[in-house]
Amino acid sequence: MKDILDFARARREERPIVVVAAYDALMARLIAASEADAILVGDSVAMVAHGHPSTVHATVEMMAVHTAAVRRGAPAAVVVADLPFLSVRDGRSAALRAAGELMRAGATAVKLEGVAGHEDVIPHLIGSGIPVMGHLGLTPQSVHALGGHRVQARTPEAAARLQAEAALLEKLGAFAVVLECVPASLAAAVTGALGIPTIGIGAGPQTTGQVLVLSDLLGLDSQFQPRFARRYCDGAATVVAALNAFVGDVRAARFPAGREILA
Ligand code: KIV
Repeated sequence: MKDILDFARARREERPIVVVAAYDALMARLIAASEADAILVGDSVAMVAHGHPSTVHATVEMMAVHTAAVRRGAPAAVVVADLPFLSVRDGRSAALRAAGELMRAGATAVKLEGVAGHEDVIPHLIGSGIPVMGHLGLTPQSVHALGGHRVQARTPEAAARLQAEAALLEKLGAFAVVLECVPASLAAAVTGALGIPTIGIGAGPQTTGQVLVLSDLLGLDSQFQPRFARRYCDGAATVVAALNAFVGDVRAARFPAGREILA
């Protein structure tokens, strides 16, 4: 994917969009070397890289640092950066300042959670030249209000509300919408009703695209293995085995040796 307009092209051509969430230059370089379409600098960075219990702890400063690192690692990639908790709740100017920081750090676009209360902010950002991706369903910044990380929109009323919110996001000008942890049938209905692409995570197979967090798909966290995230390798076991091989070599005086010893 070259630019943000490719999201619309992919939707028109019914081409699946693949997004990977990552937070640093090295991982961004690896994603750029793959065939993935875009990199999301998700506010999950607060949990995955900083060890916080929720994304509520992400700040604009934190997001800008990681966005800049990802941009340095992947100079030509489409990079979407998360607007963190509360950063768009204090009016259009505050939202513009936060989004501006992320854009100057290297983002191609920003993502924000929910739509209620952001109806004026979203067109303001878009009108200022900042592409906006929406995020509905499980919106982790509201984890405390939602009573935990759980599947959303299971009742007919909640499903209808989410469908209306998705339609509103499209009307307000969002270029895509993430659907997180919603029933697959609802995600399929929303995708069918929208002209913009949906990017699913825990939302079944019938979205326009899928997003996974890199550490989840690499199986790097043995303590966090969400059911919806397929592990493409056992990264945790591989890394621990490599570390123990290093420990063994040092303890047995096998490392360093040969060309590893500098003259
Ligand atoms: O923060 C994040 O990584 C995200 C994805 C899980 C969609 O928002």
